[in-house]
Amino acid sequence: MAKKSDPKQTKYLLPESEIPTKWVNIAADLPGEPLPPLSPQTGEPLGPEDLAPLFAMALIEQEVSAEPEIEIPEEVRDAYRLWRPTPLIRARRLEQALDTPAHIYFKYEGVSPAGSHKPNTAVPQAFYNAQQGIKKLATETGAGQWGSSLSFACQMFGLECEVFMVGVSYDQKPYRRAMMETWGATVHRSPSDLTEAGRSQAEHSTGSLGIAISEAVEVAAQSDDTNYALGSVLSHVCLHQTVIGEEAIAQLEMAGEYPDVVIGCVGGGSNFAGIAFPLLRKKLKEGLDTRFVAVEPAACPTLTQGTYAYDFGDTVGMTPMMPMYTLGHDFVPPPVHAGGLRYHGDAPILCALVKEGLIDAKAIPQTEAFESAVQFAKAEGIIPAPEPTHAIRAVIEEAEAAKAEGDERVILFNLCGHGHLDLAAYQAFLSGELEDLEFSEEDMKKALESLPDAPAVA
Ligand SMILES: Cc1ncc(COP(=O)(O)O)c(C=O)c1O
Repeated sequence: MAKKSDPKQTKYLLPESEIPTKWVNIAADLPGEPLPPLSPQTGEPLGPEDLAPLFAMALIEQEVSAEPEIEIPEEVRDAYRLWRPTPLIRARRLEQALDTPAHIYFKYEGVSPAGSHKPNTAVPQAFYNAQQGIKKLATETGAGQWGSSLSFACQMFGLECEVFMVGVSYDQKPYRRAMMETWGATVHRSPSDLTEAGRSQAEHSTGSLGIAISEAVEVAAQSDDTNYALGSVLSHVCLHQTVIGEEAIAQLEMAGEYPDVVIGCVGGGSNFAGIAFPLLRKKLKEGLDTRFVAVEPAACPTLTQGTYAYDFGDTVGMTPMMPMYTLGHDFVPPPVHAGGLRYHGDAPILCALVKEGLIDAKAIPQTEAFESAVQFAKAEGIIPAPEPTHAIRAVIEEAEAAKAEGDERVILFNLCGHGHLDLAAYQAFLSGELEDLEFSEEDMKKALESLPDAPAVA
């Protein structure tokens, strides 16, 4: 495609007036009715009212909405002004280092207060809960990115925040805890002895997102003025992240380009959804040829090796059952450094799109991911969070394929966070101590045996 003007332009910036006014709801583009979540107790489909003890009504409405677009409240857009629109950056120096004809662009979400994409949904979640009179939000956090984002957002809207942090990350990332506490949150190491769920999982001392979710849900379910907030997986969370892709479309237009391939890492699926869904809508509407690649860690290969079935969102079985690719709700992923990618399932909406063949999935070992992250940091300056290092590896593989084929393809990826508080992982990599933790098929087999009794999904 033809390019415009400045041959060295690196950053494509939008003014605050172009912060999106609507979120893109990809559910409206899918054929048929989505499979409903099922009650963890009865196995019956859940309606919006069943979710009311945990979530604000406005968020539940978004969760089940079939509207193609949902208006972003002015208060949320005002809060977004603190860091949005985020830059779109052309990785010219990486292109040069790789000697590739590919054009590589990345959306940089590390400029948010918490350093990742997570505040894009933390802010509206805190806003809608505060609007409904809720006083406190309880949540889990993996790498600490989500917990810090929600702590920041709760502070903005006058809510208390209680965070259960996955044990291994709590130990590896003490400064994330300091960040959360700076914004006024209370932080517990999970599994904790504060909840039934935590006590029942005490032998898994490294913890997992699934266990931490069980703890936070238990706390929220116990009091009327406390709700639960989830940083990924649910449709309303994916919805809020679509500001990333909407801005990217406008910024790529400034560059006079359109992506041939869109790449993002996947933990629960929200940052990938954020960059991909607006472009997927364009592909579906305009018959474009864009490819989408969701990248996960080889140690927790949900999309590439999981089973498509109804499963619980948490370890203990307190959350609704959702149709998704799963490694089994009691699969405890190995303690890889990309703590935010250690989740046994994925967003049902993303899983449905992978199942339909609209999105490809790929698994990458962490040593290869960090090798590429260091290459990226040397070329572009930014030190990525451990999670998007997986996407960067896939980008570099794509750029190398472009070189081998002499193809000037345009690659877009989401650099969903910086790694300034994850430097212990870099230290481990640089000193040769980072290992590729084994994904144990044996453990997964065991976990899959405990899949809940639920209708099979086709
Ligand atoms: C920087 C970063 N990227 C990605 C993820 C993965 O989550 P999701 O797949 O929902 O974007 C996380 C989760 O904690 C994260 O902190």
